[in-house]
Amino acid sequence: MSDKPWRNVIAVDELEKDWVTRVEVGRRTIAVYDTPTGIHASLALCTHGGADLCDGYFDDHVIECPLHQGAFDVRDGQPIAAPATRAMRVLEVRVRDGKVQIRI
Ligand code: FES
Repeated sequence: MSDKPWRNVIAVDELEKDWVTRVEVGRRTIAVYDTPTGIHASLALCTHGGADLCDGYFDDHVIECPLHQGAFDVRDGQPIAAPATRAMRVLEVRVRDGKVQIRI
């Protein structure tokens, strides 16, 4: 658990249903995922070649990178398809008063 403060990043009803939504937080681009089991978030940066994961294909709990089709499980960031081999950075998420909050 981080001791960083929670930050509102987007309203839940503004999320793309069953898809990935791009959110800018300061200078960082965050990918917020609406999944069958809840909302998850990560830095939008692919650990293979730095592509923007918000431009990728999303299904269930898997984000596929738009550049070389590496893929990650958005629940824990683990790579599940080559050429991605390093985990992406997932962020703590919660929902309060209809807003998605993350710690970053
Ligand atoms: S940049 Fe994402 S798989 Fe290569």
